[in-house]
Amino acid sequence: MPQPHPDAIDLRSDTVTRPTPEMLEAMARAPLGDDGLDGDPTVRALEDAAAERLGKAAGLFVPSGTMGNLVAVLAHGRLPGEVLAEAGSHLVNSERAAAGLTGMHYRALPGDGGLIALPALEAALDTDVSARCPTAMVAVENTHNALGGRVAAPAALAALHALAVARDVPVHTDGARLFNAAVALGLPCRRLAEHTDSVTVCLSKGLSAPVGSVLAGSRDFIARARGIRRMLGGTLRQAGVLAAAGLVALEHMVERLAEDHARARALHAGLRAIDAGWCASEPPQTNIVQLRVGTTAADARQWEQRLSAAGVLVRTGGAGLLRLVTHRHIDDDAVARALQVFGALRREE
Ligand SMILES: Cc1ncc(COP(=O)(O)O)c(C=O)c1O
Repeated sequence: MPQPHPDAIDLRSDTVTRPTPEMLEAMARAPLGDDGLDGDPTVRALEDAAAERLGKAAGLFVPSGTMGNLVAVLAHGRLPGEVLAEAGSHLVNSERAAAGLTGMHYRALPGDGGLIALPALEAALDTDVSARCPTAMVAVENTHNALGGRVAAPAALAALHALAVARDVPVHTDGARLFNAAVALGLPCRRLAEHTDSVTVCLSKGLSAPVGSVLAGSRDFIARARGIRRMLGGTLRQAGVLAAAGLVALEHMVERLAEDHARARALHAGLRAIDAGWCASEPPQTNIVQLRVGTTAADARQWEQRLSAAGVLVRTGGAGLLRLVTHRHIDDDAVARALQVFGALRREE
């Protein structure tokens, strides 16, 4: 794969963010141990700090969001079992191959604002242990990636959790971008983790750490999860070099997500000024802008190529859809230059 040009405006994902100088410095001086033996002190510090922020008893450092979700499914799950998730969620679309590893069935249910619609959840929950496939876990995604970084508010999360809890089914939140949701709502992160039994948060997306996620939950759940992480080969050794960057991410990079959200709104407004049909009238809540090119002559893949040739990198997000993500390396100037390119290509059509 050719590397993108260093001057390209990279709107493909917030995962492209590089560690800050402060992170690199913290990585170099982190106290280290063996996380598979008696523990790595920096990893433990990160796990405790993340759990504290999320209002959970314990945390577990994992290499990626995907592994955090997989460990959660295995730690909550009982066989035979079914995982219920909203149809557009990352879990049932991008991570569904993991269903084969878990032995569980992943079922996609219709959504309402990014969460499983309550009537659909009510109808699907089956906790009869002699049923063909009793419900093992209910999944939430906040923010919702495929819905353009949509935020689920505490009241909706509480209603969904109440329904699951009444049937004794645990809820897991894929909070790859939970900090974006918290910043958008102006709430502490723990308010969004209050109505979930476990949660994965990613440090390597908008928060700019090079690697890592944290899974948080009760002490018993995390003890079980720790064994499952080992089984999956996810027990890293001097992982404090990575956790040190994660600690800086948690402490210093959360509040600045508001800047990414403001730039996503600026990008959205500029795109609508070029073509009002390109984006929904509602501005993005967080850092993802969705652009519908379906009505123009070129399809999304062609747009992706033409933009790339002009120095703006984006990704397709389904038929006729482009996905633009703002992050720490996208400043006001990058937004203005990207809009110039979009405008010029639109005029060429
Ligand atoms: C909503 C959501 N969940 C999970 C993941 C997976 O995270 P990772 O790439 O760290 O495995 C992503 C990645 O973009 C995501 O957007």
